[in-house]
Amino acid sequence: MRFSTLSLLATVASAAFSFAAPVTPASNALEARCLCQDIDSIIVDVTTTIRPLLLELTYITTENCTVEILTPIVTEIKTTITTAITEVKALSGTALVTVLTTVDGVVLTVFEVAALVCELLTLIFYALGAVLSVVSAANRVAVTALLVEVAEIVATLLQLILNLVGGLLIVLLPLLGEVLSIILSLGATSCFGFLSVSWSTVSSTVVESATTVFSTSATTIFSTAVATITSA
Ligand SMILES: *[C@@H]1O[C@H](CO)[C@@H](O)[C@H](O)[C@H]1NC(C)=O
Repeated sequence: MRFSTLSLLATVASAAFSFAAPVTPASNALEARCLCQDIDSIIVDVTTTIRPLLLELTYITTENCTVEILTPIVTEIKTTITTAITEVKALSGTALVTVLTTVDGVVLTVFEVAALVCELLTLIFYALGAVLSVVSAANRVAVTALLVEVAEIVATLLQLILNLVGGLLIVLLPLLGEVLSIILSLGATSCFGFLSVSWSTVSSTVVESATTVFSTSATTIFSTAVATITSA
C-alpha cells in the first residue's frame, strides 16, 4: 500500500477542505454540546484504560504466553473496548460539531481524530504483535484465536468511529502500515473488510519490539507515520 507524496497531499488537502466548510466558533460549539460524550474523551478514555493492559502483553514471554495467562488481560481489554463501542453508538445522530468538540470547547480537526485513533490502534496491534512474536508453536493456534477476538472488537469500534467522522478513513489509512501488517499476521483481515485494503500488498512482518511504542505520544506516532509515508 503505497501513497505518493502528491496523492497524500491531495488527500489531505481535500479532507481539510471538506472539514473547513462547517466552521463553528468554539463558543457556539460548546453550547452545541449535549450531555453525551465527545469522540475525544471516548478515545482518550479507552486508550488510557487499556494502555497498562496492553503494556502487560508486551512483557509476555514464550513461557507464559498461554491462553490461561492471557485470558484475564484480554477479557479486560475487550470489556473496555465494548464500553467505548456503546459510547460511540450513543453519539450516532449527534451533530458532527458536537461529536468533535472536546470538554474544553475545542473542535477537533479530522487530523487530530486520526492521530488519536492511530495511537489507539498502534498500541493495541503492537501489543498483539508482541504476543504473536513470542508464542510457542504448541500454543499458537489457541493464542491467535484469543488475539483475534480483540481484533474483531477493535474492528467494530473503528467502523463506528469511521461512520461518525466523515473523511477520517482517507487520512487514517496511510498511517496504518504496521497495524495492517499485524492484522494480516493475525489472520484477522476479514473483520477489517470495510477498510478496502488490498491485503496482497501488505507485508506480514511481525513487529519485534513493541515497548517503545508505549512511551510515544499520539502526536509523535502520527507525525512519524506521516514522515514515513511522505518519504516513501
Ligand atoms: C510473563 O513472564 C514475564 C517474565 O517472567 C513477566 O515479566 C511477566 O509479568 C509475565 N506476565 C504475566 C501476565 O504473567
